[in-house]
Amino acid sequence: MNTDDTRTLLEEIDEYIDDLFGPSDEALEAALRDSRRGGLPEINVSANQGRLLRLLAETAGARRVLEIGTLGGYSAIHFARALPEDGTLISLEIDEHHADVARNNVERAGLSDIVEVRVGDAHELLEAMIQDDEGPFDVIFIDADKEGYPEYLEASMRLVRPGSLILGDNTIRGGTVLDPTEETARATREFNRRIAEDPRLYGIVLPLIRERIDGLTIARVS
Ligand code: SAH
Ligand code: DHB
Ligand code: MG
Repeated sequence: MNTDDTRTLLEEIDEYIDDLFGPSDEALEAALRDSRRGGLPEINVSANQGRLLRLLAETAGARRVLEIGTLGGYSAIHFARALPEDGTLISLEIDEHHADVARNNVERAGLSDIVEVRVGDAHELLEAMIQDDEGPFDVIFIDADKEGYPEYLEASMRLVRPGSLILGDNTIRGGTVLDPTEETARATREFNRRIAEDPRLYGIVLPLIRERIDGLTIARVS
């Protein structure tokens, strides 16, 4: 099978999964629509992956979730729906405009009481959270700049408890993760390697299909 055939097949499978569970409800569709209108890049998780995030958080019985990289709040809405009424999702975002769009999307979804978007460089925000003893979180979802992943993992380890989940998005990236000359790829491989080697973590890389193959790294703190 050549590359073009594989691409078509991936697209067809992706579409099949989308159709199976779709269409999403109005709040999720509106979040995507307003993110597009706001000029945000279309790099949110897929509907199916959003469902996976919610499923993981629900299965973990999560009450407190930390997200690194908010964009328009699409994944945040999925996560927040997994939480009880008095649950908390803190989401970190460097771009003021992204954060504004996200807050609006979250508000329309009726989740403002659960979701707090913090604006700033996640490296600094995480350091402040560690200083202020804001942990532990039950689930941490890392989905900001890929170069930052190894450091985000280190910070995350200081904001968890035994049983917490640490998730890393885009850890396959259509195979570009294999490219030894690319800095984002190197950082992602370093992130995956650390998870594989850390005796405090039990993890996997779960390949996910979209138009191409990507992956979600899932690790449980022991
Ligand atoms: N989780 C979102 C997608 C996040 S895209 C979803 O699936 O819906 C990545 C986001 O990380 C972008 O909005 C980008 O502005 C933000 N980002 C990039 N570098 C960052 C940093 N250093 N600190 C905080 N956010 C950052
Ligand atoms: C990119 C970033 C993401 O978080 C993602 O899910 C897909 C693509 C990107 O920077 O290209
Ligand atoms: Mg991502």
